[in-house]
Amino acid sequence: MTRFTVNDRPVQYRMDPDTPLLWALRDASNLTGTKYGCGTGDCGACTVDIDGEAVRACQVSLAQTEGRFVTTIEALSPDRGHPVQQAFAAENVSQCGYCIPGMVMAASVLLRRNNDPGDEEIDAAITNICRCGIYPRLRGAIKRAG
Ligand code: FES
Repeated sequence: MTRFTVNDRPVQYRMDPDTPLLWALRDASNLTGTKYGCGTGDCGACTVDIDGEAVRACQVSLAQTEGRFVTTIEALSPDRGHPVQQAFAAENVSQCGYCIPGMVMAASVLLRRNNDPGDEEIDAAITNICRCGIYPRLRGAIKRAG
């Protein structure tokens, strides 16, 4: 059994400790805002915040999450009122929308460290992939949220 905190609540998972965090969140906790895209750590659709770091939940096991604090898109804001979420809406960032939760989580971590990032800093920090090509609007939203 592994124990840690998800969205300010203690959780226990009776799953194989090698199970990727992504599947515990989605299948056991029904936190389906964290998306599965590639399963190989490349796309970032599964990005969550673990202890203030943007982490790809498909690449970290339950054992590696033991004792840590996980925040998913569901708890970033109770009313979608987080500045990043508001800026994404104002800049019409979303197209198909599938990558957006991971993008928002990665952007929120970036802006906690640097509230005035330039294009190069944004591109270096947000390595999430979007098949719709939202990157110019994404940069605008991150600057607006900052
Ligand atoms: Fe985790 Fe793509 S599903 S990085």
